Amino acid sequence: MNTELEGKVAIVTGAAGGIGRELVRGLLGAGAKVAALDVDEKRLDELTAMHDEAAGAGRLVAARTDIARFEECEAAVAQARADLGGLHILVNNGALGMGVIRIDHMTELVEIHEITPETWDRFVTVNLSGAWYMTRAAIDGLLSQRWGRIVNVTTSFFTMLRGRFHPYGPAKAGLEAMSAGHAGEFEGRGVTVNVVVPGGPSDTPMVPMEAGFDRSAMIPPTAMMPPILWLCSEAGGAHTGDRYVAANWDTRADPADAAEGCRAPIGWPDLAQNPVWPGGRPDE
Ligand SMILES: NC(=O)c1ccc[n+]([C@@H]2O[C@H](COP(=O)([O-])OP(=O)(O)OC[C@H]3O[C@@H](n4cnc5c(N)ncnc54)[C@H](O)[C@@H]3O)[C@@H](O)[C@H]2O)c1
Repeated sequence: MNTELEGKVAIVTGAAGGIGRELVRGLLGAGAKVAALDVDEKRLDELTAMHDEAAGAGRLVAARTDIARFEECEAAVAQARADLGGLHILVNNGALGMGVIRIDHMTELVEIHEITPETWDRFVTVNLSGAWYMTRAAIDGLLSQRWGRIVNVTTSFFTMLRGRFHPYGPAKAGLEAMSAGHAGEFEGRGVTVNVVVPGGPSDTPMVPMEAGFDRSAMIPPTAMMPPILWLCSEAGGAHTGDRYVAANWDTRADPADAAEGCRAPIGWPDLAQNPVWPGGRPDE
């Protein structure tokens, strides 16, 4: 086991999912203590059973938490602090996929009339507000200790803008925008905010078998681990406001070079036109 993150406490949302499980394994492997949050109790139990011996007593706690409910997010943060002795890292990874609407959504894209207002609201609440609720619950402690890492898992630009991939795409676009804003707000105060995406369809339960992909050609969920662990390290702390495409991380390269090779600013600001702003555009 490496000890890069020894003494650090991490929260991972969506921890029982395909990518979440790998993040928990990676963070434990780097010496961190981990609070694993998910709504899926059965898979959370499987996760804790899997790590019982490897993690050792007290380094992994799991709590059923619905990130769509602010009070549950607050309670989960307080519990993680109490059980694990602090909080340093927040990975906002939990989300709903389009399979919730229709299992064959990849081969027959979803049309607007298939989406009820309740479904729209649920996606926006889980996939966007959930990350804000968790950040809101965690931020005071991170700022006061002047050490924090927030990693938000969004999706590809293509998916955000794609027609008939609603509400998933627009909700993730909102999370991307929120990440840029939070990076700016917390800059220079010890708390970094970055985005990490797989870089294409990843072989997890979110992409159903009905999608028809050759699963072996998909991005393995383990690809998310190197950039996220690096961002959580001391070296990664020098970088905020960026997005990392995990599929482009070169595992043979020095981590600083690998990071450089898959990094771009969050939200493609170079593509934006300058707003007409009386007195000149504000810096932030
Ligand atoms: N798999 C892909 O192709 C892909 C591509 C781009 C981005 N992503 C993103 O990666 C992240 C992880 O996805 P995954 O592929 O591992 O999917 P997954 O479905 O395997 O995992 C998502 C997890 O989030 C949990 N979750 C759902 N609603 C929740 C809620 N209200 N509260 C708490 N937990 C909740 C689910 O129970 C599940 O365990 C997501 O943010 C997803 O949008 C995935």
